[in-house]
Amino acid sequence: MGSRRHALKEKLTWDIISEPSKEVVEQLMLIEASAHDDPWTYDSLMECFTDNCRCIGLYLNNELIGFCVICIIFDEAEIYTIGILKKYQGLGFGHKLLLKSLQLSKELGAKNCYLEVRVSNEVALYLYDLYGFQITGIRKNYYAATSEHPAEDAYTMACNLEEIDMNDPFLKV
Ligand SMILES: CC(C)(COP(=O)(O)OP(=O)(O)OC[C@H]1O[C@@H](n2cnc3c(N)ncnc32)[C@H](O)[C@@H]1OP(=O)(O)O)[C@@H](O)C(=O)NCCC(=O)NCCS
Repeated sequence: MGSRRHALKEKLTWDIISEPSKEVVEQLMLIEASAHDDPWTYDSLMECFTDNCRCIGLYLNNELIGFCVICIIFDEAEIYTIGILKKYQGLGFGHKLLLKSLQLSKELGAKNCYLEVRVSNEVALYLYDLYGFQITGIRKNYYAATSEHPAEDAYTMACNLEEIDMNDPFLKV
């Protein structure tokens, strides 16, 4: 694996967010807006709190700085969204959040994990590759054009969760 520059690990905590208050959903929306060009809305976030989905929150000094939503159906997991608050990006937190989410997927019985990612998203592609994801296809114009960006293709990716180390010392906090 790469250098995985260490985030301030002693101050990090995790939580599975379920039945979030309006304030927590607003925090999730702030992270979405800071991390994505096409952030999820309040309603689309609320749709994630179903039996099949898990929302993993990453906290630095009790501040929610990132989250990942995974959906598990039978033995297949899918990453719906993952993001770190912009001011904390590039510090190693994405590594931890992704690894934790993959470990949770495996713990919940998933054998493979799937996702879609913009073809231009070099940081995410780097991370996904590091954790064993391989490109399985391309979806043309999957991301709709906005006033600022043309439509963009998505790679579909898949990872075998057997390869994920459940005791990776990188996550010991
Ligand atoms: C993708 C995201 C979750 C990663 O989290 P992060 O905290 O920024 O990432 P980290 O700091 O843990 O790791 C980033 C890695 O990418 C590498 N990287 C940085 N810029 C890069 C580039 N242009 N090309 C390739 N790798 C790059 C870094 O060197 C680092 O690897 P290393 O620790 O092995 O050196 C975060 O940047 C984010 O929220 N982005 C916006 C939302 C998004 O793109 N989500 C994914 C959609 S599918």
